[in-house]
Amino acid sequence: MDKLVARGGNILSGHIPVSGAKNAVLPIMTAAILAPGKYTISNVPNLRDTRTMSKLLEIIGGAVEMDSGTMQIDTSGVKNPEAPYELVKTMRASFYVLGPLLARFGEARVSLPGGCAWGPRPVDLHLKGMEALGAQVDLEGGYIIARADELVGTDFTLDISSVGATGNIMMAAVLAKGVTTIENAAREPEIGALGHFLNAMGADVRGIGSDVLEIHGVDELHSADYTVIPDRIEAGTYLVLGAMSGEDLEISPVNPKHMKAVIDKVRRAGADIRIEDNKLLVTRAAPIVADDITTAIFPGYPTDMQAQWMAFMATAEGSSVITEEIYHDRFTHVAELNRLGANISLEGNVAVVKGVDSLKGAPVMSTDIRASASLILAALIAEGRSDIQRIYHIDRGYEQIEKKLQGLGADIVRENA
Ligand code: UD1
Repeated sequence: MDKLVARGGNILSGHIPVSGAKNAVLPIMTAAILAPGKYTISNVPNLRDTRTMSKLLEIIGGAVEMDSGTMQIDTSGVKNPEAPYELVKTMRASFYVLGPLLARFGEARVSLPGGCAWGPRPVDLHLKGMEALGAQVDLEGGYIIARADELVGTDFTLDISSVGATGNIMMAAVLAKGVTTIENAAREPEIGALGHFLNAMGADVRGIGSDVLEIHGVDELHSADYTVIPDRIEAGTYLVLGAMSGEDLEISPVNPKHMKAVIDKVRRAGADIRIEDNKLLVTRAAPIVADDITTAIFPGYPTDMQAQWMAFMATAEGSSVITEEIYHDRFTHVAELNRLGANISLEGNVAVVKGVDSLKGAPVMSTDIRASASLILAALIAEGRSDIQRIYHIDRGYEQIEKKLQGLGADIVRENA
């Protein structure tokens, strides 16, 4: 198993390229199930998760080829066998095949994802949405079986503004008869990207970017090409890195509108950030001013940037309070950051970070994608050597991270543990 070995203390400068957004491309790949045909998707990150989704599309009869950021998908041969537990358990986003399979074939069999390192993560809202569209949903042997002779448009209000449920329901509704309204829909840019892709396929999705989506069902869709938006979470991770140890570090391409909450917070903590078109230029905060965050749905501060903020605050002047409102248990990085010398205490969904003068290198373990990112940020300012184990988590969501960081002057290498 690979590990990353980092020695902290270098000042990082130069340009770090941002890949296409993982959370945008995954539902877009499954949307291609909706209409048989050939699709060219550009700016696709080569990640463990995009490879897992490719495998899933291949299992159900599709063909996927990836060549330097361009993905060719052919869904002409897609049938609807089950989406197996072995894949769905490794990546919850596999559940995104439910809506498209149901809409195209009138039946879908998808393994229930199960829990993850930071809590139960239910899919009840996805299922309620399918039922509201007229599907019958049963659980058999750990698999969700959804069936419908015909999906019919409906008014549906999400109890929680769930990204995944919004995407799944939207993909099922595009081929339904009549109009579907999704209220309290997720406004995350990745859902917007999915809406634009579906419209390029001939769908009629209105209200993109708002919390009320109106989907006018169409009889047929066709294949389409698409360029994936920049990954705002990857870019945000590098922005925090720049605020910790950067000198005119350039992050691009980005869409600054997708990153406002993070940019505002990082600035308040003392970093110098310049925005030029699709570029961010950041120089470290000295000192780092402690500031609180509370995670929220878009356009609030994202839960996917919570762990990185914690690494940032570890050496701030003063104390900061981090409140996790989306996934109350998403704190597996606390103990690992403390191993590096941070002073973080946790009570329920609230962490208190008391800033320390410096961090010290140590062996630590990745527990999920963003927790791993926070450990890398911390290791890059820690004194001495840190070995970051179980980095398959980071490879799920960050393309060639150590190469990108080496390009900035970071001392970090991948080793076979
Ligand atoms: C997506 C992102 C993930 C991010 C999260 C929140 C992808 C592939 N993943 O995950 O990186 O952290 O959004 O921004 O895009 N919930 C229910 N029932 C459901 C669905 C969700 O109770 O049926 C709850 C969840 O437990 C959580 C909240 O809703 O508390 C938000 O989850 P959701 O937006 O669905 O996250 P994902 O789509 O799984």
